[in-house]
Amino acid sequence: MTRLAWLAPAILGLAGHASELSVVRPTGERATFAIAALDESLGLSAQAVPSDFMYEVDKTFLGYDLGALMERLGLPLQADYLFVCDDGYEAFVSAELLTDGHVRGFVARADADAAPGGAWAPLPPGNAAVNLAPLYLTWRSAALGADALRKLPWPYGLREIRAVNAGARVARLMPPAAAPPAVREGFAVYREECIKCHRLLEAGGTLGPDLALSAMVKFFDLPTLVEVIANFHRYYPESKMPNYASEQPELNVPAVARYLQFMAMAAGPTRGATRSAPPTVQP
Ligand code: HEC
Repeated sequence: MTRLAWLAPAILGLAGHASELSVVRPTGERATFAIAALDESLGLSAQAVPSDFMYEVDKTFLGYDLGALMERLGLPLQADYLFVCDDGYEAFVSAELLTDGHVRGFVARADADAAPGGAWAPLPPGNAAVNLAPLYLTWRSAALGADALRKLPWPYGLREIRAVNAGARVARLMPPAAAPPAVREGFAVYREECIKCHRLLEAGGTLGPDLALSAMVKFFDLPTLVEVIANFHRYYPESKMPNYASEQPELNVPAVARYLQFMAMAAGPTRGATRSAPPTVQP
């Protein structure tokens, strides 16, 4: 890794606006860091990231090693964190992942491949509107292949790193032991995937709507709900929600739909006619 501290002023100029990173430590203590100050104290290094998640090609970024950043922020690696993004996405980064000797995180601050005058090269068409600044978490590994690395969290537009008690976070989302097996299986899918964007009973991200309040979850019959979740872009072509049927066909959508309806029933006595028509396409 090459030290590129001398580049920092150039990169800062490119970033264009003052930005900060907030942290909540495992003790509950809060702090805020100017990212410019992090650049200065950590120094920017260049790092090759093979088969980058967002660019879908091999990249070289300028930024800092995740471990060095966590240390500088006073965040121990032996704790679980949420990496909270500008758009409300919440990526769960576990102590296990942070201390895993086979993968290394690198927090990209700028793109070494960008044309002069731009901090980041343009993203591929599907992600063209995305803004990676101020910080984008990337991963590399000598042991794991690209497919395994893609399953790790790659949050961008990072604004806050918040320690969480992982057990307590999902405890309220857990269905009772007596719930049908499909519901319990759906919970596992929900906890892995949907919680990054959706809130349910006060836990989870805010990029998507609160699913405890969703009329679709409450009133659609199960096959309709499964269809909408699996083929979301059929109804909301511009959505940031993945189109699971094509993007993750192995994901158990029927189970997660059962789980959501079970939780909605358990949450409140709302009664309504079941609808079977899919939602109308948004303008
Ligand atoms: C990357 C973020 C993201 C992920 C991951 C995600 N969603 Fe969504 N979801 C959204 C957004 C955003 C919307 C709102 C529609 C829109 O504006 O695009 C939405 C809408 C929905 C709705 C419709 C709610 C309503 O009543 O309008 C349902 C149901 C839903 N999601 C279920 C799920 C399930 C189940 C999962 C996990 C398998 C999931 N979502 C994963 C972002 C996400």
